[in-house]
Amino acid sequence: MQEDITLITGANGEIGQALLRVLGADRVLALDLNPLDPALAGYYLEFIQGDILDRALLEQLGREFEIRRIYHLAAILSTKAESDPHLAHKVNVEGTMNLLNFGLAQSEHRRVQFLFPSSIAVYGLEAKEVQGPVGEDERLMPTTVYGAGKLYCERLGQHFAKQGSGLLDFRALRFPGLISAETLSAGGTTDYGPEMLHFAAAGRPYRCFVRPDTRLPFLVMPDAIRALQKLASATSLPRGAYNVTSFSPSAEELRQSVLEYFPSAEVSFEPDPDRQAMVDSWPARIDDSAARRDWGWSPEYDLQRAFAEYLVPAVSDRYLEESG
Ligand SMILES: NC(=O)c1ccc[n+]([C@@H]2O[C@H](COP(=O)([O-])OP(=O)(O)OC[C@H]3O[C@@H](n4cnc5c(N)ncnc54)[C@H](O)[C@@H]3O)[C@@H](O)[C@H]2O)c1
Repeated sequence: MQEDITLITGANGEIGQALLRVLGADRVLALDLNPLDPALAGYYLEFIQGDILDRALLEQLGREFEIRRIYHLAAILSTKAESDPHLAHKVNVEGTMNLLNFGLAQSEHRRVQFLFPSSIAVYGLEAKEVQGPVGEDERLMPTTVYGAGKLYCERLGQHFAKQGSGLLDFRALRFPGLISAETLSAGGTTDYGPEMLHFAAAGRPYRCFVRPDTRLPFLVMPDAIRALQKLASATSLPRGAYNVTSFSPSAEELRQSVLEYFPSAEVSFEPDPDRQAMVDSWPARIDDSAARRDWGWSPEYDLQRAFAEYLVPAVSDRYLEESG
């Protein structure tokens, strides 16, 4: 039995890869349906290629490892979830239920922390521009399978935390759109932010799938990872779920930032009605004052600093290497 282990599900995803790189190796168990990027060798104790729907696999892991912390990141992202609601329900809801059951069994005699990345998709607005920053307990009327699943799993996690020994410590973080310089997500509905930048750096034209006036909150990946770690190390928490955010540019403002660094970037706007409807139901700004007050959250990168000091240098290096 190996003790004091951290389990990351969805370890090969955008957040999983970034988290693996900061958590280090010796006590981290990585699990994903797909093979792990070979560049991550050395960042984990063991990699298990498997499905979170496979309960026998989870039971076996429970016998081999004493898990103290679970970052449950495996999921089907929003655009893909809407095109395949059956799969989304299975992975996002039943998969999370499996992990919660696993966490509950692991927490019979010791505290087990369960970190769950939720989303601004839990909110559902009718008229987004007239709405100020939305707080955690407002407008919880998700319009998508993805958002409804996230909200349900937040509630499920809070319910499981009261079961059994009471030692399952469930904490949810509602992420806005995330922008990473190192990876590109697939199947998300905030993907136009990172895609605009990556396509520009690669010298490829980009067709943005939302209108230029579309405004959504974003965080860059280093801040998202910092938020997860900070939430994990917080002591007593009055809430089960917290908003975190940094900047809220419109799609046109993002294009302007991209053009500042890549003046020949070609970005056109060709809104997709389904994806537009989704982002129109999500808040332009979220209120993260509870996270700031309760566990000292504050992002390090605003829009200008994100482009100047993180995104542009890293993304330029990446595509220079690829072209060279
Ligand atoms: N990226 C964002 O902008 C964003 C925003 C809000 C919330 N989130 C949430 O954060 C979490 C991680 O997101 P991400 O951007 O890293 O997603 P991602 O799509 O990059 O990664 C998800 C990973 O889960 C794995 N996976 C899918 N189904 C699985 C299964 N049945 N069993 C095991 N592994 C499986 C995939 O192979 C993939 O590597 C998700 O829960 C997502 O909903 C992400």
